[in-house]
Amino acid sequence: MAVLVRFDAKGSWGKVLLDAQAVGDALRSLGLSYGSWPRRAVGDGSLDAVLAAYGPELDGLKSQLSIRHVDRVTVKPGNPDWPLLRQRFLAEHTHADAEIRYFLSGSGLFYIRCSDGHLALLCEAGDWIVVPAGMPHFFDAGEHPDFDALRLFSIPQGWEADFTGSQTSRLPTFDEFRVRLHELRAAEGAVPSTP
Ligand code: LAC
Ligand code: NI
Repeated sequence: MAVLVRFDAKGSWGKVLLDAQAVGDALRSLGLSYGSWPRRAVGDGSLDAVLAAYGPELDGLKSQLSIRHVDRVTVKPGNPDWPLLRQRFLAEHTHADAEIRYFLSGSGLFYIRCSDGHLALLCEAGDWIVVPAGMPHFFDAGEHPDFDALRLFSIPQGWEADFTGSQTSRLPTFDEFRVRLHELRAAEGAVPSTP
C-alpha cells in the first residue's frame, strides 16, 4: 500500500496520507496516476512470464498510453551496481516520456516536485505509478535496496533522463523516511496514558 507525504520547500514533513483513495486523488490533482493491482503468480519469474501474468492490467495501461519498450529493474541488498544506480536515481530529473512503473515486489520512494515543495510517494509491491513526461522527480531505495519493478516506456530506446541539477538533499532518504514514518505511526497508535 502506498504512502504519500507532502514536503514543503524547506523539506519539512506535512500531511501523511495512508489511504489508497486519498493518495490516488492527491496524485491525480497534479496529473499523476497511481493504482494497485492484485499480485499474481509469475510462473518461472522471467520477464515474459511477468508480462503474461499481468497481461490484462498491462493492456489497460497500454490502451491509454503508447508503450514501445518494457524492461525490468531488480535490485536486491548488496547489488554492486546499486551505488551508481542510486546516485543517478537520486539526482532530480525529467523524462521525455511518462515514467511508468509497477512494483512486483519490494518498495521504493519517489519524490515528485510540486509548486511548493515535493510529494513523496512510497510505492510497495502491487503499486503502479505514472509520472507525466517533463515532471521533475527523483527516487531512492536506501542503503539496502530491495525492489523489482517493471518499467514501461513510450520511447523505443528505454530509460533516458535530463537532470535538473536541483539540490534535494534536504529531503529524507528512503531509510530516513521509513524510520520517521514508523515513529509517526507508532505515536498515532499509542494509547494515551490514563492518570
Ligand atoms: C527512474 C526513476 C528512478 O527514472 O525516477 O527510473
Ligand atoms: Ni525517473
